[in-house]
Amino acid sequence: MIVQHHLPRDLFRGKTVFVTGGGSGINLGVASNFAALGAHVGICGRTKDKLDRAAVGLRELNAHADGKVLAVAADVRDPAALDAAIARTQAELGPIDVLVAGAAGNFLCPAEELTPNGFKTVIDIDLLGSFHASRAAFEQLRERRGCILFISAPQAFVPQAYQLHVGAAKAGVDNLMRNLAVEWGRHGIRANSIVPGPIEGTEGLKRLSSPEVDERAKQAVPLHRYGTVDDIGQAAVFLASPLASYITGTVLLVDGGSALVGSALWNETVQTLPRGKR
Ligand code: HXC
Ligand code: NAP
Repeated sequence: MIVQHHLPRDLFRGKTVFVTGGGSGINLGVASNFAALGAHVGICGRTKDKLDRAAVGLRELNAHADGKVLAVAADVRDPAALDAAIARTQAELGPIDVLVAGAAGNFLCPAEELTPNGFKTVIDIDLLGSFHASRAAFEQLRERRGCILFISAPQAFVPQAYQLHVGAAKAGVDNLMRNLAVEWGRHGIRANSIVPGPIEGTEGLKRLSSPEVDERAKQAVPLHRYGTVDDIGQAAVFLASPLASYITGTVLLVDGGSALVGSALWNETVQTLPRGKR
């Protein structure tokens, strides 16, 4: 993964960034972009091996700024585990300046086949997990007049077939974000959402797409390409930087214009998938 941008390499030196779900994909791309700008980085997820592997790369990226990296196993559905992870982050890296709530789960499922527990599972990870992380980090964010970045999804406002659970969860995340922007603004805490479009090489896209539809899907994006994890990482560092100091309560689409053209192609695609392929 190449992290390239034109900001000072020490922009986040001495700052602490904590990323839920930071062991892979887009969230690791976000963590990497902060590390490349000198931040101390804490990541959590359920799979310790994956986190440890990610931590090796993060340490290379922030070594120039004497950055530290902490990888801690915690399920965002478990508030006590998150409290412990976030307390440990403060003890080992310093109080959190930037919280990235990125942990999420997804699968394709027709609404009529979705079980109560299937629906609940995605709400628990995406929406409750984002609340638990925000709540756990509040005191540290207040101390640092920090910010929160929620990793949302277009399904929050563009309905998409077989994605009812994700749409409900991410719409909830964006609303949580707006409420926190209003309530915590008085503490100097900013809150914003980033909506990635289809991002190449990620688990999320793998679960929705297939090699057969990739070319058509890319051509349907107004910018005619899938995004990269660095596209999202760069938006994240912008929103956390002083360049965005008066931006709060926004949903920033980083999607090559995808949301403008709706979900028709995806709907047509998934509805023809045989059961075994989803
Ligand atoms: C229907 C399913 C299902 C499927 C699970 N369930 N997979 N239902 N179709 N393919 C149901 C189960 O039957 C069960 O309900 C309930 O969901 C919980 O399943 P578990 O396997 O016990 O859950 P758990 O182990 O907690 O795993 C959570 C998970 C899993 C979400 C189901 O896929 C996961 O760990 N995902 C993390 C990685 C991931 O999803 N990355 C992509 C993020 S992308 P019952 O009733 O049987 O008990 C994203 C969207 C972005 O978030 C948009 C992309 C463009
Ligand atoms: P990913 O690599 O699977 O990222 C999800 C991460 O969350 C994983 O590292 C996973 O690690 C972690 N996670 C899942 N459940 C968790 C839990 N209960 N507690 C703690 N951590 C948990 O997928 P991705 O595609 O990069 O998605 C990253 C974010 O981008 C998500 O918020 C997703 O909704 C959003 N998004 C993705 C796309 C896309 O094109 N990929 C588009 C729009 C939005 P463990 O499984 O080890 O816990």
